[in-house]
Amino acid sequence: MTIRITGTGSALPEKTVTNFDLQELVETSDEWIQKRTGIAQRRISTGETVAMLAAQACKKALEMAEKTAAEVDLILVATCSPELLLPCCACQVQDLIGASNAVAFDLNAACSGFLFALNTAQVYLQSGVYKNALVVGSEVLSKLVDWNDRGTCILFGDGAGAAFVETTNEQNLCENGRSSGMECMVQGSDGTRGMVLSCAERAVNSAFFSEEKIESSYIQMDGQEVYKFATKQVPACIQQALEKVEMTVDDVDWFLLHQANVRIIESVAKHLKADIKKFPMNIHNVGNMSSATIPVLLDECCRSSKIKRGDRIVLSGFGAGLTYGASVLVW
Ligand code: COA
Repeated sequence: MTIRITGTGSALPEKTVTNFDLQELVETSDEWIQKRTGIAQRRISTGETVAMLAAQACKKALEMAEKTAAEVDLILVATCSPELLLPCCACQVQDLIGASNAVAFDLNAACSGFLFALNTAQVYLQSGVYKNALVVGSEVLSKLVDWNDRGTCILFGDGAGAAFVETTNEQNLCENGRSSGMECMVQGSDGTRGMVLSCAERAVNSAFFSEEKIESSYIQMDGQEVYKFATKQVPACIQQALEKVEMTVDDVDWFLLHQANVRIIESVAKHLKADIKKFPMNIHNVGNMSSATIPVLLDECCRSSKIKRGDRIVLSGFGAGLTYGASVLVW
């Protein structure tokens, strides 16, 4: 039995916000943002919700996989910015796409969310509990960002990406002799450093207890600590994943990393001694969309035929938690 991604899809809000637009809001410049992050513009919601974007991405993934919504067994939505605490976003997606036979729930591992959801789906599929899953990363981070804070508001964007994953009994042998399918995964969390990237919910204010008022419910970040964490942890975790399948960096065709900062991606490539050309990027156009970055990039690479059947891919994410992970698969 193999587990394969057979469809991908993505959806972005209509509105583009450039660095020049941000210059009107905070003391910053296009030059500073591009030099420090590689971001030129991002999409920002003007009404599109996490659930709407997720549903659009799912429809496209199903279309590519040539499946109907009624055939979906499991919907896993990774998000840290849902509109509603109840019901979960995955149930809203189930309703929007009409996946009436699916089990649906959310998972929050911030920017590692899509990867953690993909790994969770893989375990469900391996165990035979379900035969397929829609795995989604969807965010409207623009509502969690303090638009007066130039340290964070320049980084983030909104969007969604989805992958349809299914089990097959065929071997799916590719022309280059590789067998298409998921190969292995590595995940990790370090809660001791969680507060370097945080966002508070509302305070407890019940009939029995009142917490002190929360100072800010916007994203708070120690950028340099996150940077250090990512540049150290990501290459280590990719190496660990490759060792698990007895592969080296040279056996990998593409590294699809969480798009947080071009400098982080360049540093990871350097640590791994891998050619930077193997690291597709779209951060220039869409910024950091947290859990949505990896599936949106995967969808773009897949639809533009950059990624071809038989290519070995490493997906790797990191983010709040702190969380990190890597997955190895053959397309
Ligand atoms: N425009 C102009 N100047 C800015 C600015 C902005 N948007 N944001 C910060 N600055 C200023 C700072 O105030 C500081 O000024 P000072 O030297 O007078 O004190 C200077 O630029 C350098 O700030 P610093 O925070 O040291 O910059 P940096 O090189 O660390 O870059 C980040 C900041 C946020 C781009 C970088 O730390 C980063 O990308 N970290 C990882 C964050 C991340 O990826 N988070 C999401 C993870 S999922």
